[in-house]
Amino acid sequence: MPENDYLLEMNNISKEFPGVRALDNVSLKLRKGEVFALVGENGAGKSTIIKILSGFYSNDAGEIRLNGEKVNIRNPKNAIDLGINTIYQETSLVPEITVAENIFLGKQPVSKLGKINWKKMNNESERILKDLSIHLNPKALVSELSAAQCQLVEIAKAFSSSAKIIIMDEPTSAITEEDTINLFNLIKTIKKSGNSVIYISHRLKEIFEIADYVMVLRDGKAAKYLKVSETNEDEIIKYMVGRDLGDIFGEKSYESKDNVVLEVGNLTKNGKFENISFNLKEGEILGLSGLIGAGRSEVVRAIYGLDRPDSGFIHIGGKKVTIKSSADGIKHGITFVSEDRRTESIIQRFTVKANITILLLKLIVSKLGIISNKKENELSAKYVRKFNIRTPSLEQLAMNLSGGNQQKVALAKCLSTSPKILILDEPTKGIDVGAKKEIHSLIKELANEGMSIILVSSELPEIIGMCHRVIVIREGKLMKIFNKNELNEESLMAAAVGNI
Ligand SMILES: Nc1ncnc2c1ncn2[C@@H]1O[C@H](COP(=O)(O)OP(=O)(O)OP(=O)(O)O)[C@@H](O)[C@H]1O
Ligand SMILES: [Mg+2]
Repeated sequence: MPENDYLLEMNNISKEFPGVRALDNVSLKLRKGEVFALVGENGAGKSTIIKILSGFYSNDAGEIRLNGEKVNIRNPKNAIDLGINTIYQETSLVPEITVAENIFLGKQPVSKLGKINWKKMNNESERILKDLSIHLNPKALVSELSAAQCQLVEIAKAFSSSAKIIIMDEPTSAITEEDTINLFNLIKTIKKSGNSVIYISHRLKEIFEIADYVMVLRDGKAAKYLKVSETNEDEIIKYMVGRDLGDIFGEKSYESKDNVVLEVGNLTKNGKFENISFNLKEGEILGLSGLIGAGRSEVVRAIYGLDRPDSGFIHIGGKKVTIKSSADGIKHGITFVSEDRRTESIIQRFTVKANITILLLKLIVSKLGIISNKKENELSAKYVRKFNIRTPSLEQLAMNLSGGNQQKVALAKCLSTSPKILILDEPTKGIDVGAKKEIHSLIKELANEGMSIILVSSELPEIIGMCHRVIVIREGKLMKIFNKNELNEESLMAAAVGNI
């Protein structure tokens, strides 16, 4: 195939941040109608390369060509004008207006008199949605849509401005399995129409479902470029981490004890969840499963004190407790790692060290009054090593870490307090395969040492591989509590959709 048959060529791209060589001489070539996957460990450089392509960062070296012609992408608007559209995790849609208005935001069709031509806008939107097989009413308000539906509208919006390349950075990390199927169908439609997709995900199975080519990035370098039909998951992982990972979940060899650490009775928050009752034993890993939006996060947030339930009780160690705030939660030996770690658990403008030790400082200061800088350094360095947090130093600002590395910092922060009850909401979302395995072994190790853990996860293999018992929640109601020997994907899924 002659060189100029490439829709996009990124040649010898390098990018340096203070203390970090994020990209080192990386080249990426994309043809029309192709889905190109980018994989690699947290901090490998995936987001950086697409941020260069979408005009957010400038490259230090290298060139970008579209249809063989050299282009200079100076800013995000520039990239969109060139047909390069990026779908971010946080939606950029305006909730108060309709789907059609969002699709045509800033480029509404107007009549000669300067009036917006609503009919044309709605019809055009309907056509774009139909072409993409997206089943949405153009007149629906965006505020009424789910996260997944917003993502679809963003894609439709991209096509209304004649996108040729759609970039998706971890699009499935916050949507349900069903919505993922919809998204993949849409990607297939995009492919058929001759447009191209660059796709980033930590879920390797997805690569095999939709991608034609996959590039493995490692330490900012292109470690390998593979045709998807000629490779497999193990090979990709080998290039990602440079070693064999073995069985992801290891063996389940330990038992939880019989004494109950936490008991929740008839916990209700109107409109969110009702009559949730369960207990948690010492050394137990209790799973909370269900579809996204089922109310799992709301339940654990109420236990930790981030939300106030309307009725019901919480007993810790057999005694009734009142938890009105997260400070109360921590006082009772509970810590919680939120699903939305980047905004809720991490202070972006603080250093890595300050973030990891912040809760500990609260505890230590209240007891002794001081903590030495040396102790702080030792402790944070320990977690940086343990989780393989990629940072040039302990003094790096959290905001400069890659998405996955910020998540690891949030986990480290909560573990530093050695809680009795640890609540983890989607702890491995956005985490690379190697670190995921490390986090799984760590959770088991902690349970083995007697810590009690509530694990909220949308990944059924994770829930089944890790938990002693699993609670399935659907539309705010507890459907069933499964014992270890009853755990399998089919029955958990059936309970999650109300099919029991
Ligand atoms: N604005 C910035 N300032 C300093 N360093 C940065 C900045 N942006 C990214 N980096 C660093 O560049 C490297 C690559 O980061 P990038 O976000 O591209 O990783 P990634 O492959 O997307 O990882 P993840 O899977 O965790 O999202 C990391 O070491 C990161 O800390
Ligand atoms: Mg990233």
